[in-house]
Amino acid sequence: MSNPHHPTHPHPPSPEVVANAHVTAEQYETMYAASIADPEGFWREEGKRVDWIKPYSQVKDVDFTLGNVKINWFADGTLNASANCIDRHLATRGDQTAIIWEPDSPEDDAKHITYTELHGHTCRMANILKGMGVTKGDRVVIYMPMIPEAAYAMLACARIGAIHSIVFAGFSPDALAARVTGSDARVVITADEAPRGGKATPLKTNADKALAKCDTDTKMLVVRRTGGDIAMTEGRDHWFHELEAKADADCPPEEMAAEDPLFILYTSGSTGQPKGVVHSTGGYLVYAAMTHEVTFDYHDGDIYWCTADVGWVTGHSYIVYGPLANGATTLMFEGVPTYPDASRFWQVCEKHKVNQFYTAPTAIRALMGKGNEFVSKCDLSSLKVLGTVGEPINPEAWNWYNDVVGGGRCPIVDTWWQTETGGHLLTPLPGAHATKPGAAMKPFFGINPVILEPTTGEVIEGNPAEGVLCIADSWPGQMRSVWGDHERFEKTYFSDYKGYYFSGDGCRRDADGDYWITGRVDDVINVSGHRMGTAEVESALVAHPKVAEAAVVGYPHEVKGQGIYCYVTLMGGQEPSEELRKELRQWVREEIGPIASPDLIQWAPGLPKTRSGKIMRRILRKIAENDYGALGDTSTLAEPAVVDDLIENRMNRA
Ligand code: WT7
Repeated sequence: MSNPHHPTHPHPPSPEVVANAHVTAEQYETMYAASIADPEGFWREEGKRVDWIKPYSQVKDVDFTLGNVKINWFADGTLNASANCIDRHLATRGDQTAIIWEPDSPEDDAKHITYTELHGHTCRMANILKGMGVTKGDRVVIYMPMIPEAAYAMLACARIGAIHSIVFAGFSPDALAARVTGSDARVVITADEAPRGGKATPLKTNADKALAKCDTDTKMLVVRRTGGDIAMTEGRDHWFHELEAKADADCPPEEMAAEDPLFILYTSGSTGQPKGVVHSTGGYLVYAAMTHEVTFDYHDGDIYWCTADVGWVTGHSYIVYGPLANGATTLMFEGVPTYPDASRFWQVCEKHKVNQFYTAPTAIRALMGKGNEFVSKCDLSSLKVLGTVGEPINPEAWNWYNDVVGGGRCPIVDTWWQTETGGHLLTPLPGAHATKPGAAMKPFFGINPVILEPTTGEVIEGNPAEGVLCIADSWPGQMRSVWGDHERFEKTYFSDYKGYYFSGDGCRRDADGDYWITGRVDDVINVSGHRMGTAEVESALVAHPKVAEAAVVGYPHEVKGQGIYCYVTLMGGQEPSEELRKELRQWVREEIGPIASPDLIQWAPGLPKTRSGKIMRRILRKIAENDYGALGDTSTLAEPAVVDDLIENRMNRA
């Protein structure tokens, strides 16, 4: 048990964990030093984790200089990601389960898909896509429930060299349309409906609405999940099950260059609309495979479960590509942690004898609030390693996870990374590090983190240190560009701090040299582990005819981590009302999706601005945090009285 008087005291791994681990403390030190001293030599060896059609001779060709940013790994090698995730395992583990699928309702049967079956399904889906006109380099949008067909779709694209772009099933038709247009997708793969927590999202109907807004020539492939009523457009839409019955079960994998894009994944930033993060085939796969094995201390035969959705990067790297490249058994869960009740996660762990379990702090906090009996009635003795990702985890949640879920036996890996990084950059390793509740601890192999003074950009050496987190050199899993806009890529990540990759996160290195993420330093907020640009929510709000102006900030939320706080100025003649609040909330849900639903809307007669008209977000953040006593300098405001009104009518009095 953790010591309640020292909620953040270090937790060393037990001797049994150390004895069994891929990487011990000594090995970590030696390997880490080698990876930084000689990245070429280190990755030349690690690159062999995947099978190459033509082996690489070049390893690393990188430049972080603004105006000239290029990132190439293993550039003259060729490979296929789908063959690495399937074909190369067939001889040794064809009958082993590749994917365990656990449906939304515990009343329905789980599925076990072997590597041999995965091969057949993926090949048939690949041949169907080819038949629909998809060729190497084309984009395919995937808008799916958490069903095995989502993994088949990803691997089928990879097999024929098409670039997939997954859109989370919780996104609205508008958001889907923007992504279909943004990548000029040939095909959208979707399903009739997505059941989650006993409710069904009408995916096909959403996709119909989205395509109606696109000028692209896009076909649709529809998987039947619920059998719900949907409309099919003749000539454009095809049922997957009809085509699958006729499809050839063999599809040779396309030979891809290491730097050919494997996928695009849209993510939010501090300005503008979401950008398409581009990941490579070779470097990405090497990095996803290595981090999956090492961070979770995955061993052959283990059952591994990551509760994320394939719509997020966590699902890409740690449900599909990393685990399958390693020949693992990966569990895919269609449902939610609280359906039918707060015991579901733990029942699934017991039912499938899960060894490594990876989830988000928001889920842990939500379940923690329901009481320990939901956990303790389940047999969790199979668990070996627990992981968290998505946002900083508070020590209370960490300790509950450690004590109640892990029984004090299981190391917790708090993995810090981003859509942009492809895989873990900071994390403790189960057999190597004494963990501290709330700390992301140590750099992964090959990762060279630096903490910079935010305004001067100077590197802060020594411990302790606090500032913004940058990475000094490339790693194979790093994103390569923004889809269609390399300049935006350079500007977003390489212009604020010259010569470094800028993460957008604040960070502290403690006296022992261990890393703690302190949260975003830009206008990105983190709501239940979902990343959102406040600018996106603002532009959705001002698109409403009754809204003149809007400013959106995050505020501390007990379960979600951050909630969405909106200041809204109405058009002249419009009266604030509860009705209108509801209407605006609904409006944002339709523009972006339910995850962007405003938590608090404050009517603002005016917004605090500088004399040059810039909104002073610092002040809005403080008021939303209920910390209005610490507003700081307001002397540059054009109309100081605006602030008094906002304080008086603030919504968060927690
Ligand atoms: C942002 C990236 C990487 C997959 C999930 C989110 C925050 C992520 C942690 C962590 C503290 C974390 C950061 C980061 N974040 N993991 N372990 N501790 N903060 O990916 O949507 O690209 O968001 O999530 O702020 O920048 P994402």
